[in-house]
Amino acid sequence: MINMTRKIPRPYNAVRGEITRCTTLLPRSLTLRARGACNGARSSRPVQAGNSGASTTERLRRLAPAAGSLQGVLLRLFPFAVFCENQRYCTRSARVCQPRFSGKIPLSGGKNVDEAAASAYNKEKYPALSPFEAPQKERYMKQIILTGDRPTGRLHVGHYVGSLKERVALQNSGKFDEIYIMIADAQALTDNAEHPEKVRQNIMNVALDYLACGLDPEKSTLFIQSMIPELTELTFYYMNLVTVSRVQRNPTVKAEIQMRNFEASIPVGFFCYPISQAADITAFRATAVPVGEDQLPMLEQCKEIVHKFNAVYGDTLVDPQIILPKNQACLRLPGIDGKAKMSKSLGNCIYLSDSPEDIRTKVMSMFTDPTHLRREDPGHTEGNPVFIYLDAFCRPEYFPEFLPEYSGLDELKAHYQRGGLGDVKVKKFLNNVLQAELAPIRQRREDWEKRLPDVYEILRAGSETARKTAAATLHDVRHAMRIDYFEDNNLLRKD
Ligand code: TRP
Repeated sequence: MINMTRKIPRPYNAVRGEITRCTTLLPRSLTLRARGACNGARSSRPVQAGNSGASTTERLRRLAPAAGSLQGVLLRLFPFAVFCENQRYCTRSARVCQPRFSGKIPLSGGKNVDEAAASAYNKEKYPALSPFEAPQKERYMKQIILTGDRPTGRLHVGHYVGSLKERVALQNSGKFDEIYIMIADAQALTDNAEHPEKVRQNIMNVALDYLACGLDPEKSTLFIQSMIPELTELTFYYMNLVTVSRVQRNPTVKAEIQMRNFEASIPVGFFCYPISQAADITAFRATAVPVGEDQLPMLEQCKEIVHKFNAVYGDTLVDPQIILPKNQACLRLPGIDGKAKMSKSLGNCIYLSDSPEDIRTKVMSMFTDPTHLRREDPGHTEGNPVFIYLDAFCRPEYFPEFLPEYSGLDELKAHYQRGGLGDVKVKKFLNNVLQAELAPIRQRREDWEKRLPDVYEILRAGSETARKTAAATLHDVRHAMRIDYFEDNNLLRKD
């Protein structure tokens, strides 16, 4: 839910002109319908002009002189507003409207947000208000991806189907204006403080895996987290907006504390990593975060921080959406031993950089259905890692190529369930599928390995670009928090 309750930030430049209607655009999918009548509409927004009993319109009018015009006031309240003529404006907050319009809210006429905004907006009359042209608004409309991985080892096929594949598809979809892919070394240090060398060594490994999967430095900015000190600063401010008990309830943190035997003494830095992850996402104003399913609690926590920050300091941060793989099997690929998660410490991973022989050995040793002892026995495909991998990796064209006697995966599964299909045959097929999927990745990795100085330069230049973006956000954050002391002599001002 988008929380529009907030303190009124210091004035934007007041805009002249008379407004009669405002259609409020919230980020992308949520739009407030201009509902005509607004007198008497409840507003959950604190308005400083004495507000008891007054209508929202009246309260806004009282505020108008301070901001230069009524339009100025509205612009302060609704940074996404599009103004147009001849109708009344709507000041209902998202919160008030939420129960009525849950899910995707259509604009009147069923247009999408962009079309409706474009047609509602009168360019000649209100040039400064265009969400497409006014520079200070422009960034709110951009579609931005931020995501990343901890450099604690080479990336494996779980990373690939769980997130990397989706990132590459999103990158190549052309739908995103900016894409940031971060090697989260500072986060990796939160539980590897004593092994900085391990983190350091894996920076290049992860960068190579990224490039091997098809992330393209021309389209995506690859960078290293610790090279952006603004992220640490932002984390520190966010820490004030989150309680210890809230972090303790984060299921991913809970699971990781258990896994690392941290129960008795949790490092503070580790405990705070969900907060730092919120800083990573918001510093880049990410609208979309493609990650694995295990990161869902992190995104929820991030959204809470965004809402809280915007409520306390005024609308500054962008609310991100998580993007999960659509294919169920990709959400959490089990290890080759059938354990729930692929993890380096369990030694149950197939790495993107594994040789064809490694892949073959690992596939042939894979855990399958323990009740399927002889070929004739009926077998289970659900929860069977070999079939989960096939669900995640197999494409229809692999059947004519490697297993022409079956029309597709459904037929293969049916045969296995009936009995009469041996594990070795299915594993050999899976091996062929994995070899076909991973060969181009391995090839690209080998090509990049020959150009390590170029990889280094990609990370260096990417970190420089990323730092500029984060610094711009920090500038806005400090302004919203009113700690931008040396801008505009503002310490000398009385308000
Ligand atoms: N937590 C992620 C992982 O374990 C890495 C990460 C750090 C991240 N910051 C992020 C992912 C921001 C997405 C967005 O792999």
